[in-house]
Amino acid sequence: MEGVRLQQCLEVWEGLLLDCPPNDATAEGRRHMFSVSAIAGNLARLRGENAELARVAGIFHDLAAVETGVRKDHAHAGAARARRILEELRQETGAPLFSENELDNICAAIYFHTDKERVHFPLAEVLKDADLLDRFLDAPDYDAGKKNRERVPRLRAELGDLQTAARRLS
Ligand SMILES: [Fe+2]
Repeated sequence: MEGVRLQQCLEVWEGLLLDCPPNDATAEGRRHMFSVSAIAGNLARLRGENAELARVAGIFHDLAAVETGVRKDHAHAGAARARRILEELRQETGAPLFSENELDNICAAIYFHTDKERVHFPLAEVLKDADLLDRFLDAPDYDAGKKNRERVPRLRAELGDLQTAARRLS
């Protein structure tokens, strides 16, 4: 029932974005989160990880920043925000949509997603790499900065040219 759970998350996500200020930052945040979600799903599949959890993490990963306009600590705020949203999501049976373990995995991936210097567990790495790959979509020479100094060559070794990879995975 993979598609159904993702669909429910997307519906909630769309609704929450409608409550955000209708400005350029919201529009770009919406585009970016959706794109990261798509890339994360395909990257997860490529790495033998759970594509559905990757897509859900992607869709919510910057929501706190988009809702509040505050980038500082948005990964930590976003993890708590995603947990609240996902805990509230119930199937018709009243059962949680995600198991405790799945929820922990999604929220921890969001929690660590700005910590690009370090390497965490597989789902977190999928989200971080997808977050970075989206930046290369329209900018092949994107300057990923110091904190991605090791991540960029690692990704190139895995995927080849990053713009081509981003386009292929999105
Ligand atoms: Fe992001």
